[in-house]
Amino acid sequence: MDYIQSNKLAWEDAFRHRKPGWGDDNVARLQSEHLPFLHPDIVRVVEGMAFQGKTVAQFCCNNGRELLSLMQLGAERGFGFDLAENLIAQAREMASTVGAACTFEACNLLELPARYTGQFDFIFFTVGALAWFEDLDPVFALGKRCLKPDGVLLVHDSHPLLCLLPVPGEEAYREGEVRVSYPYFRKTPWLENSGMGYLSGKYDSPTFTSFTHTVSDILGGVLRAGLCLELFQEYPHDVGITPVYEGKDLPLSYLLLAKNR
Ligand SMILES: C[S@@+](CC[C@H](N)C(=O)[O-])C[C@H]1O[C@@H](n2cnc3c(N)ncnc32)[C@H](O)[C@@H]1O
Repeated sequence: MDYIQSNKLAWEDAFRHRKPGWGDDNVARLQSEHLPFLHPDIVRVVEGMAFQGKTVAQFCCNNGRELLSLMQLGAERGFGFDLAENLIAQAREMASTVGAACTFEACNLLELPARYTGQFDFIFFTVGALAWFEDLDPVFALGKRCLKPDGVLLVHDSHPLLCLLPVPGEEAYREGEVRVSYPYFRKTPWLENSGMGYLSGKYDSPTFTSFTHTVSDILGGVLRAGLCLELFQEYPHDVGITPVYEGKDLPLSYLLLAKNR
C-alpha cells in the first residue's frame, strides 16, 4: 500500500474515532458567525478580494468547514477535495444544510480528474495540508493547471522551522527551551500511530505518514510550477501545532499568494 492509501485509511479511521461532538456545531457557527473557520491571517487577505461570480476550491478540505466559511464572501461555486470519504460525506451534509453551492469530492488530490483543468479563480490550502505530500512540485503544478488565467493560489500553514523543534510529549522537548532537534533537510517521513490530536485525540491508530518541507521546497515549487509569487509573509504565531514557541520571535506560520499570470 502506498503512503497516500495508508493516509486515507488513517484519516477515515481518525474521523470514525472523532471526539464526541467534533464538528457538531459547524452548521450553527456557519449560520451565525462571519467566516468562522478561517484563520485571521487568511481573513485579512480574502476580505480584500472580490469573489462575486468566482469559482473557488479548497485542496485537502477535510470536512469543508473552511471552504463553507469562504463561501460567505459571495463566490458563485465552491469545490472541496479530500482523501477521506467520511469527511467529505460530512462536508456534503453541511453544505446542503447551509445551502452553499459547493461540490465535495473524495479523491487523492494528485489524481484530480482532468475536468478541473482551468476551472478555478481561487485555490487554497490551509494548515496541515501540504505535509501529506512527499514532493510539493506536482502539488503546485496541479494548482497551476487548475487555475484560470489570473487565478490565485493561497497557502497558509505552519512554518517549516517548526519541524525542527520538538513538541510537548516528544522525548526531546524541554519546557521553556528552544532545542533544534530534527534536521531541516529531513527526507525521511514522519510516521505516527497515535491518532490525529485535534480530531480524535490520542488512540492506537493506523499510520499517518507526513513530510517536512523546506522554505525552498515551497517557494521553489510555486516558481517551478510557473506561478507568480505575489506575497510571502511569515508570522510569529502558531496556527494549531503548539503554542509553546510563541513569544520567542520565531517564524511559526506563513501565508503565500501566487498568481497564474
Ligand atoms: C489537517 S487537514 C487540512 C485542512 C484543515 N486545515 C483542517 O485542519 O481540517 C489535512 C487533510 O488533508 C487530507 N489529505 C491528505 N492527503 C491527501 C491527498 N493525497 N489528497 C487529498 N486530500 C488529502 C486529509 O484527509 C485531511 O483531511
